[in-house]
Amino acid sequence: MASFKRYTITAALPYANGPVHIGHLAGVYIPADIYARYLRSKGEDVLYVCGSDEHGVPITLRAKAEGIKPQDVVDKYHGIIEKAFSGLGISMDVYHRTSDRLHHETATDFFKKLYENGKLIEKESEQLYDAKEEQFLADRYVIGECPKCGNKEAYGDQCEKCGTSLSPKELINPVSKLSGEKPVMRSTKHWYLPLDQYETFLKEWILEGHKDWKSNVYGQCKSWIDQGLQPRAVTRDLDWGVKAPVPEDGKVMYVWFDAPIGYISATRQWAKDNNKAWEPYWQSEDTKLVHFIGKDNIVFHCVIFPAMIKAHGDYILPENVPANEFLNLENDKISTSRNWAVWAHEYLEDFPGKEDVLRYVLCANAPESKDNDFTWKDFQARNNNELVAILGNFVNRVIVLSHKYFNGLVPSDRKEKSESIDDELLAAIELYPEKISKAIEQYKFREGLQEFMNLARAGNKYLTDTEPWKIFKTDSERVERILHLCLQLIANLSIMAEPFMPFSSEKLKGMLALDIGLKWKDAGRTDLVKAGIQLQKAVHLFAKIEDGAIEAQIERLRATQNNKVDEKAVSKKQKPMIQFDDFTKLDLKIGTIAEAEKMPKADKLLILKVGMGEGAQRTIVSGIAEHYSPEEIIGKQVVVLTNLEPRKLRGVLSEGMVLMAEDDKGKLSFVSPESVMDSGSIVR
Ligand code: 2FM
Ligand code: ZN
Repeated sequence: MASFKRYTITAALPYANGPVHIGHLAGVYIPADIYARYLRSKGEDVLYVCGSDEHGVPITLRAKAEGIKPQDVVDKYHGIIEKAFSGLGISMDVYHRTSDRLHHETATDFFKKLYENGKLIEKESEQLYDAKEEQFLADRYVIGECPKCGNKEAYGDQCEKCGTSLSPKELINPVSKLSGEKPVMRSTKHWYLPLDQYETFLKEWILEGHKDWKSNVYGQCKSWIDQGLQPRAVTRDLDWGVKAPVPEDGKVMYVWFDAPIGYISATRQWAKDNNKAWEPYWQSEDTKLVHFIGKDNIVFHCVIFPAMIKAHGDYILPENVPANEFLNLENDKISTSRNWAVWAHEYLEDFPGKEDVLRYVLCANAPESKDNDFTWKDFQARNNNELVAILGNFVNRVIVLSHKYFNGLVPSDRKEKSESIDDELLAAIELYPEKISKAIEQYKFREGLQEFMNLARAGNKYLTDTEPWKIFKTDSERVERILHLCLQLIANLSIMAEPFMPFSSEKLKGMLALDIGLKWKDAGRTDLVKAGIQLQKAVHLFAKIEDGAIEAQIERLRATQNNKVDEKAVSKKQKPMIQFDDFTKLDLKIGTIAEAEKMPKADKLLILKVGMGEGAQRTIVSGIAEHYSPEEIIGKQVVVLTNLEPRKLRGVLSEGMVLMAEDDKGKLSFVSPESVMDSGSIVR
């Protein structure tokens, strides 16, 4: 490590078409943060950059679906993401965005240099075109059958089922996402990066030169390179993106061309804001560049971006790309479209003050070498049995005992009262910083965290074994020795907790009234807390998480899935024939909405009280809050499915369903009687 003068740490730019979830955090942002914080604590010159990835087809599709502009979509999510990162203590030095002018400039200069130096190939070819929408169908504008695995909903750039990277023309029976029509072929001109020309370079640089990379990363690179690389189009016929500096109008850069350049733009922004030079972080060979990403980004960071850098010539290549695998949730793939996720911003709302708990659980469970699973039960168990029972308990006992026996003044060392059990503790204090460093430097953050907890565990055991509460009356000087050592250990824990759990690290330093300037180099010392110093009162580092809080989260996940089932039920596709008897099973009645209010902390749900005649009223939770305000629907007559099995939504028992009509744009409307009817009238 010593041969590098500075570190540029990048974390994959999240797409600004939705918030970030625990999979993103565990895979990319928390590991990168641990690494950056650790290196800063070692006194290294570190720059941790990130920003929103604001171009690309999913953003334009979302804008179209919501009837707003792409810029409005990215403005909304850029803010949500940035706030969530900062709430979780993700210590990026800059969080930039690719719709910013500085990024457009940086990406344009990069592209121009490649174009002017003849590094790009110009090619005219037939591409899929939506004649109705008058638009070429790149990437995710088109879906169809995957030629490899038969998945009927593969995208034009990738099949998410088997992971194969595709081009739109490879899809069987393609359909436009814009119009639902079958595309036609039309000729268009594009610029390509001839990846085939970089095969020798990539073979030497990765396959020969980076056998040290994680096996999942190395393996993917090898398989790509061994299959033979093809020229890759770096322009698109779109109007959302960075305008490509080519003679043709209407071309923008492929989002995966401009996005990684976003790391450089972010660095330039940081330099500008801090009056620093950006160049050393990207152009000096003594800078160690490390990309933190998820496994779906490996090819872009290990093959395509390096080929771009090689073609350009002015920038350094990454020293490592420690990509992680995926995190599942409750044994199922995390899915944004199915809303099967734990969203960072919602976690922060639901668990205030527990930022470090999530950081801890996601690091302890990080999918470093294989896909892993997050479950709410495991989250609870790790909090209660590890953070509370080991780390929190140890710290709390030491501080409380120090107050009880010594008025909160750090007792003196009392070396003369030493016993052999102390030597083990002292040896652990000396040994662990190195163990943890080694793990972090090898990107084994789980191992590092485990070692950290082992040290806390050693402290807890030492306290339990020495039993100061039993000997204080007879040998208070031995107790001084014991608590003195425990306080030294806590000081060490406060330093080594910082990369993993920065909020708790700060609390620990506060309790010990420690110099906040203590750094990694101080870890291993046993003279960090001086005798006679006044300790602060004990603050609880962690609190037990009760079953109710966990059940509420599990219920929330279930509710979103039930909603999805409802959505499928109202899908426009013709359903199979049913018998009249099937229809008569539905108990449909007219109801009149008597009261309506918003469900707290839920964007989509209203809680309705619906009069069903003869004074009877039902509570119904309905997903219409984005279409109707509570005030405007009081008195409305609606059709209610009254014999639908009741179920709890966000803790409220919903007794039935209000029928809604839905058009192609997702607009909802009540199905109401033509003239006023008695509540409870039968619908048949
Ligand atoms: O996969 C993604 O979420 C991409 N937005 C990552 C981009 S990383 C970089 F190259 F910008
Ligand atoms: Zn497939």
